[in-house]
Amino acid sequence: MNILLLGSGGREHALAWKLAQSPLCDTLWAAPGNPGIAEHATCVALDATDHAAVLAFCEEKVIGLIVIGPEAPLVDGLADSLRDKGFAVFGPSKAAAQLEGSKGFTKDLCARANIPTGGYERVANEADAMAALQKFGAPVVIKADGLAAGKGVTVAMTMPEAEEAVRDIFAGRFGEAGAEAVIEEFLEGEEASFFALTDGSTIVPFASAQDHKRVGDGDTGPNTGGMGAYSPAPVLTADLAGEAMTRIIAPTVKTLADEGMPYSGVLFLGLMLTREGPKLIEYNCRFGDPECQVMLLRLESDLVELLHACAEYRLGSIQPPRFADDTALTVVMAAKGYPGTPEKGGSIEGIAEAEAGGAKVFHAGTAIKDGKLVANGGRVLNVTARGESVTEAQRKAYAAVDAIDFPTGFSRRDIGWREVAREAGDA
Ligand code: AMP
Ligand code: GLY
Repeated sequence: MNILLLGSGGREHALAWKLAQSPLCDTLWAAPGNPGIAEHATCVALDATDHAAVLAFCEEKVIGLIVIGPEAPLVDGLADSLRDKGFAVFGPSKAAAQLEGSKGFTKDLCARANIPTGGYERVANEADAMAALQKFGAPVVIKADGLAAGKGVTVAMTMPEAEEAVRDIFAGRFGEAGAEAVIEEFLEGEEASFFALTDGSTIVPFASAQDHKRVGDGDTGPNTGGMGAYSPAPVLTADLAGEAMTRIIAPTVKTLADEGMPYSGVLFLGLMLTREGPKLIEYNCRFGDPECQVMLLRLESDLVELLHACAEYRLGSIQPPRFADDTALTVVMAAKGYPGTPEKGGSIEGIAEAEAGGAKVFHAGTAIKDGKLVANGGRVLNVTARGESVTEAQRKAYAAVDAIDFPTGFSRRDIGWREVAREAGDA
């Protein structure tokens, strides 16, 4: 089968690496791809916003499966355009992708289906937002409704901070994405991510992970797309994962199907493990980046078989995903300046040396310039290793980071710290 993978980040490098290993994969195409993806796929310049161009490509190359990596094309309805012409697509429809595309949509769905999440109010102007803030009191969470590249959420510890976040949103800081907002109850606990595959009726658990969103060591500084992750996340025990399946995922999938928006693809849950059990913070309609990298490193099943079954609504007819029972941990090497304006063009050397010790280096924002690998984005490399414990995977990942010569780059030095402390018996 010929496969088309859309995207160009570290997540898509991991997907390409794993898809290409499958005996079911004939030619793997990637659009636009990156230099790491190009080791496994033929990269083509296709614009995912041009649905007609993507369709024409799929027809010409006889594509049997399209895997959509990032959220933007899903929220934009690319999966619908392709499915309408009979193609098998991994990724939800535009209607179902509202789970990520509109925070208000998700909160209303949770309310209808009695899914545990923080209390909330949807607001469409500054005055209503300020009134809602008074109701909740600080700490409180303010969210632009639409896609805001991970920057639309403010966790305000004080009222002045909360009021500033509201003014920012309604002054147009997030454009259309901030035409509406959600004011939300602050939830206390440890965060964990959980992933499940569904074809709209069958649901199978995939894996858990824990991400590190802040740019600095000790979880300090501004939020980023994620500076590192590990999988599984032992804090999300089998019991808690089971609770997330029955109380959150199952009613979500059922409600969407009942309301004529069946969800097919991967569901990515951001969970807060509160004293009252897991509560939903947010849904994403795609694999996490960099969570995907650590999950796929441990995946023993054939990824093409899984994603194709999902795309053809026959997930119940295949074996559920199997994973190795060790841990994988990834450290993001970013370009200085990230998450603001990253320095572009810095040289990168030593990837082969880093991989010689058993690590796997996924490319995110890289490019080839004059025959040499250079930085070309905020998050640049995902240095990923496996171990019997988080502590061991962390040690191996940082040994590999230290083998890479990337003078204009930086990374956090404490990825996995919560679990490393627990393993040492300090927490
Ligand atoms: P989101 O973009 O929804 O993932 O939010 C970004 C981050 O804000 C989350 O990873 C949490 O750390 C935090 N956050 C979002 N909603 C809440 C909430 N209701 N209570 C506490 N923290 C939250
Ligand atoms: N790493 C968080 C995300 O992919 O949204």
